[in-house]
Amino acid sequence: MNAVDEIFEMFKRHGGEAYFGEPVSQTEHALETAHQAEQENAPPTLMVAALLHDVGHLLHGMGEDIADRGVDARHEAAGEDWLSHRFPPAVTEPVKLHVAAKRYLCRTDPDYFDQLSPASVRSLELQGGAFTEHEARAFEAHRYYGEALRLRRWDDAAKIPGLEVPDLEHYRSALEAVARTSRALT
Ligand SMILES: [Fe+2]
Repeated sequence: MNAVDEIFEMFKRHGGEAYFGEPVSQTEHALETAHQAEQENAPPTLMVAALLHDVGHLLHGMGEDIADRGVDARHEAAGEDWLSHRFPPAVTEPVKLHVAAKRYLCRTDPDYFDQLSPASVRSLELQGGAFTEHEARAFEAHRYYGEALRLRRWDDAAKIPGLEVPDLEHYRSALEAVARTSRALT
């Protein structure tokens, strides 16, 4: 099975599950995140990152209430690991950094914390809380820092129940094209 078929299969199998304490499913959340990327004319790699940023949740099969049970599944690391065999760093790095981006924004944007959903506030604690000043500066040095912040903003806004957005099929050609660039690198 190629990478794109695997992704479609995973969404089919687990995408209907709730997105941790939010009023949307995993698939709805992914599609709403990717749609914002497309609307902002993000490059295909970042749009694919937006679509797949929570693929770690679809992989780990830990149920939908892990934050409530006090478990941080480190989904960003699981997702990055899985994606790294299939996609280039322009996809995997923003995915890896999307939790760090939340911790960064909690440190640097005074209004950011207030707009987080209750579930996101709960998981923040498990993820280590807001960055220190030193951690924030280190984060800014990362090559994909800007992309990670864009992805994070889309992620936080992608929790609207019933929003009409393009379906998964809409992203098939972009997924295939970006996965191909990864194969060309190896
Ligand atoms: Fe997310």
